[in-house]
Amino acid sequence: MKIINTDINICQMGLVVLLIVLFPLNAIAEGGDRDNKKKKHRHKNKMQVEQPVDDGGDDGDPVVDDGGDDPVDPVDPVLTLAELGEAIYKDTNLSNPPGQSCESCHTASAGFADPDSDIATSEGAIAGVFGSRNSPTASYAQHIPAFRARVNGPGFVGGLFWDGRVNTLEEQAAGPFLNPLEMNNADEQEVVLKLSQAEYATSFEAIFGAGVFNDIELAYLSMTEAIAEFERTDEFSPFSSKFDAVIAGSDTFTEQEQNGFNLFVGDGQCSRCHAINQNPNLFTNFRYFNIGVPANPDNPFLTLDSTLNPDGAAFVDLGLGAVLNDDAENGKFRVPTLRNVGLTAPYMHNGVFATLNEVVDFYNTRDVNNVVPELDENVNNGGNIGNLGLSDDEVTDIVAFLHTLSDDLPAETDQ
Ligand code: HEC
Ligand code: HEC
Repeated sequence: MKIINTDINICQMGLVVLLIVLFPLNAIAEGGDRDNKKKKHRHKNKMQVEQPVDDGGDDGDPVVDDGGDDPVDPVDPVLTLAELGEAIYKDTNLSNPPGQSCESCHTASAGFADPDSDIATSEGAIAGVFGSRNSPTASYAQHIPAFRARVNGPGFVGGLFWDGRVNTLEEQAAGPFLNPLEMNNADEQEVVLKLSQAEYATSFEAIFGAGVFNDIELAYLSMTEAIAEFERTDEFSPFSSKFDAVIAGSDTFTEQEQNGFNLFVGDGQCSRCHAINQNPNLFTNFRYFNIGVPANPDNPFLTLDSTLNPDGAAFVDLGLGAVLNDDAENGKFRVPTLRNVGLTAPYMHNGVFATLNEVVDFYNTRDVNNVVPELDENVNNGGNIGNLGLSDDEVTDIVAFLHTLSDDLPAETDQ
């Protein structure tokens, strides 16, 4: 297995050793994941077999679907917590007006981000209303640690959202339903009423208790638990990319991908922040930086009226600085995972870059071209960031490597 060219400097040697040590470990971890997945599928098959309908076999079995005019329909199988979460995640009746679900902005085939890649940010349930930030992937979000101050130096790590303002998938899932720029329900009661009328309400009650819908707060919290459980399934963290196959020894990089990888950990200095010496490899150290991303004049949020965007076109996203009310953190955003990044265009918190080529070009030439940052405070100048001296071919090679991080995701979802 040839992961890294032999012409590497001493500093990279440490990384090489780490990679060699970690790759077999990963292979083992991966094996475990695959077993789990198999178990899950077996479980699904078993549920299908239990249903007294068409067995799918062409064995002349006369017991096939008779058109559904049975006097008594078979009782719906009770969903598991994760299956209930999936049903809620994909339920487009839970927005106001109906039509939008979590899945609308976090679709598997789009790397669990918004499939509408032409617009910088996502449209809410109300047509023409847009959020201020680009929808990040919901894949691998289960691995984001809670927000905390770093122990071995200044700054912060972890937390969900671009600015780390919540700590758990449960807290995160509580937000979109009530956000006027997203699913736009007036209050928790409105959401719970819809849950109580949904097809899966029986399962909801079976799992959380018969009276659960009478306690609005409990029902709402229970809903976030179910969604989070679904987001913790292997479906969201499949580790099924070409990169994973290469480290498991079952595939090899093309020469271009290999070169891109070498640059990613070498002259491109990407792995300083999009760390890969971790198990599992999530391509982020979860820290916060202002890397000097330019403002995006095409962000549709800038044109919203003053009730939704009081700052109008002058809006500047302070990121972590606004959460902590600390100027020293202004303009900083959490280093995102790069898994599935080939599927999640556009890029950066404000969706300013349409392609990965533009992203890598930005890192390569930010300072050469004097790119004006959205917020000119606390801009990171570590290493040669902004002036990497890469050739056009080398930029393309890094992009080719980034595409090896796309999982083998379903083209379309179940429902
Ligand atoms: C209208 C589009 C939209 C809808 C609907 C939506 N999201 Fe999001 N999601 C976003 C945006 C935009 C962000 C980033 C917001 C921010 O950083 O302030 C985000 C962030 C997230 C994150 C955090 C990812 C990270 O890297 O920190 C998760 C997880 C997530 N959403 C899951 C969900 C779930 C679950 C639902 C349904 C309850 C949902 N989203 C509904 C657009 C959407
Ligand atoms: C100093 C830390 C740092 C370094 C070094 C770094 N990045 Fe990033 N990267 C970030 C942060 C922080 C963001 C989010 C910035 C924002 O949205 O304002 C980001 C965002 C990205 C994105 C967009 C992801 C998305 O979902 O929108 C890509 C792609 C990316 N980086 C690739 C790279 C590559 C390739 C390199 C090396 C050439 C690199 N990064 C070097 C910190 C870093």
